[in-house]
Amino acid sequence: MLNDLPVQAEDALLALIGLYRDDPRKTKIDLGVGMYRDDLGKTVIMRAVKEAERRLWEAQDSKAYVGPEGDLVFTELLAREVLGAGWSATNVTGVQTPGGSGALRLAAELLAYQGPRTIWVGTPSWPNHKGIFGASGLNVKTHPYFDPRTQTVLLEEMLAALNGASPCDAVLLHASCHNPSGAALADDDWNAIASVVAQRGLIPLIDSAYQGFGRGVDGDREGLQTILAACPEALVAVSCSKSFALYRERTGAIFVSSDSSDKSAKAGGVLASLARVNYSMPPAHGAEVVRTILADEELRADWVTELESMRLRLIQIRRALASTLSGRVPSMAAIAQQEGMFSLLPLSAEQVMTLRHGDGIYMPESGRINIAGLRLDQVDELGGKLLRHLAQH
Ligand code: LMR
Repeated sequence: MLNDLPVQAEDALLALIGLYRDDPRKTKIDLGVGMYRDDLGKTVIMRAVKEAERRLWEAQDSKAYVGPEGDLVFTELLAREVLGAGWSATNVTGVQTPGGSGALRLAAELLAYQGPRTIWVGTPSWPNHKGIFGASGLNVKTHPYFDPRTQTVLLEEMLAALNGASPCDAVLLHASCHNPSGAALADDDWNAIASVVAQRGLIPLIDSAYQGFGRGVDGDREGLQTILAACPEALVAVSCSKSFALYRERTGAIFVSSDSSDKSAKAGGVLASLARVNYSMPPAHGAEVVRTILADEELRADWVTELESMRLRLIQIRRALASTLSGRVPSMAAIAQQEGMFSLLPLSAEQVMTLRHGDGIYMPESGRINIAGLRLDQVDELGGKLLRHLAQH
């Protein structure tokens, strides 16, 4: 059996971690995998997380099993944070998952549970979206979302594609800080999408992985709430990796919102049974940390303050980079308006490789850059190197 297995290519995005680490050049810059970094280039543990861990270490007296649905207090508190207090009190059921990817996997398996179903995914999107959905038995169809050349959201094209979708098809939406483009939807865009999704009877699956990095903790749930208000059934996949900087702790949740608490509870039961046959139950530590933070007013306030300072650092770098690039490539002014960690540069794979090998600048072949990987004092030099390629378009 093993002789016939294909050689699997390494995941192109995660491979960048090792490639960057092994590059001896002191001037190298890591704009690859989406992790927040501070001014010193470090992915630090947030203050509230450290304090919550200290409290847990002191108070925890058991490592007994929890159950496939995970920590129920965590999911309840997280629902209030991600969906807003009003929504979490309505017909919502949540299951804790191993990270946002685990949430997307369970969501996809729920969507595929009763038979073949199509899910619509914007182009471009996070590469693993298609991977997870395909592996879960969904039929993946794509619609246009973003044009890297003009740096604009292709709303009309997206709406036209969704208008051609069949009732009960699913549609993936990014709650905030679109990965990979950073291109934010305006309130009117959300309204237009919500009305097409509702009219066509589509099932939204909203990926919420960057709450707090775009318009702040409150602002980043507004689009999602517009969709939930319009649709009788919706799924929300949540990652705590970025917002709590808990990357390796694999902390997330999947929420089902519907027009009846019975329906949501039934869906929650199916999700828990899917968890049981996949990985039995989720890892506890990250959820306990998040629960401890969200249950304590002071800790939560400190978490919001630190998250806000991360958001402001991203905005500062975005503005500097946009002003360095937009003199010669006007479309690059959009980088200042985009949100979260990512922007998508109109670079070919060859240009990305030239930047990697020639200049030690690391980004995936798509041309996505992680703004958080950049220090303010590197912007001018990086800008000059990028312009050598961007100006050719
Ligand atoms: C990213 O997009 O860089 C992150 O979400 C990391 C990952 O798992 O791909």
